[in-house]
Amino acid sequence: MSSVLGTYARKDIAFTKGKGSYLFSDNGDKYLDFVQGIATNILGHCHEHLVKTIQEQSKKLWHVSNAFVIPDQEKLAKRLTDKTFADFVCFQNSGTEATEASIKIARKYFHKIGKPEKNRIITFKGAFHGRTLAALFAANNPKHVEGFGPKVDGFDQVPFADHEAIKKAISKNTAAIMVETIMGEGGIKVVPDFCLKGLRDLCDENGILLILDEVQSAYRTGSFFAFDKSGITPDIVPIAKGIGGGFPLGACLLTKKVSVGMTPGTHGSTFGGNPLAMAVGNAVLDIIFEKNFLKNVEKKGEYLHKGLSNIKEKYPKIIQEIRGIGLIRGLKMVVDNTEFMKKLMDHKMLTVKAEENVIRLFPPLVVSNIELDEAINKIEAVCKEMS
Ligand SMILES: Cc1ncc(COP(=O)(O)O)c(C=O)c1O
Repeated sequence: MSSVLGTYARKDIAFTKGKGSYLFSDNGDKYLDFVQGIATNILGHCHEHLVKTIQEQSKKLWHVSNAFVIPDQEKLAKRLTDKTFADFVCFQNSGTEATEASIKIARKYFHKIGKPEKNRIITFKGAFHGRTLAALFAANNPKHVEGFGPKVDGFDQVPFADHEAIKKAISKNTAAIMVETIMGEGGIKVVPDFCLKGLRDLCDENGILLILDEVQSAYRTGSFFAFDKSGITPDIVPIAKGIGGGFPLGACLLTKKVSVGMTPGTHGSTFGGNPLAMAVGNAVLDIIFEKNFLKNVEKKGEYLHKGLSNIKEKYPKIIQEIRGIGLIRGLKMVVDNTEFMKKLMDHKMLTVKAEENVIRLFPPLVVSNIELDEAINKIEAVCKEMS
């Protein structure tokens, strides 16, 4: 019997080595890994630049308190703010801490400007913002919150991308709207650009803030953020997962305007932004910022989409819809997603499921077209078997 608490329904398989798009199990099998730690190893397993960075940094300095200046933290914050809408970055260790910090920042902003009654946040039903108590009750998914009451108050859920419902839900107590730009766990549901614009307008008309959760989608769509192409700018953006390339790292990006309440002592983290994490975060950006890197992600995303769409056309009784942008993709299945994923595993390919009978595909951003073809062929082979 395992001594690890059973909060996961783990598959009976362990991996001992990873390289790029592949994982190697302890019994010697090689798997095409389109889980990548759930959208986390953005540069694949053991990317040379990240390995070298960790090796070098681990000989210099691992951890110092945020009570001191951390030069690599300054550097990463500057690179992120130069590239994006944000004026400041607050470093964390995970996605849930980043969303939690976003909630705190929004509430503190209104407290600071003399409107403390504005403390409620509107979210989408079916969302996922993490596993801390506030993040859990922000999404209020019955499956996740059961038994963890009393309820953390301050969140109002509305149906996904329902403009009228959001409009109705806004009250004098609303501080912000917080949504995932691409709902990940909820089934790779992309908030369309016109809806993002509508959200921004609603926030401006009502003097409230827009928080776009990019924990799963940042760097992955062919743009820096999934919302970039919509042309809008949010006020606060939590990010994590891919930004550390597999090393635990989260961050909350925010504008100068909303930063006013966040003075010394209002927030903190022992580990958040330590030198080892910052070295890795900067190394990930070295690659992401390479010329044409994101453009290539877009191209590979289109290539994958085309391959998957061809299969869908051939097997409409197996696959209903292809979802997502760039290299964050979902297959909405007609057949049972779990059964399909099991068969994919027999073909030595790993995927991850989501709500709405969806299978998520998270290739590393450095995936080759040959590897994408391999994935497409394996998916087609399982379709054939199941039809
Ligand atoms: C959109 C979104 N927000 C927040 C989280 C929580 O991140 P973490 O598991 O790193 O705490 C996740 C994790 O899946 C996520 O997808």
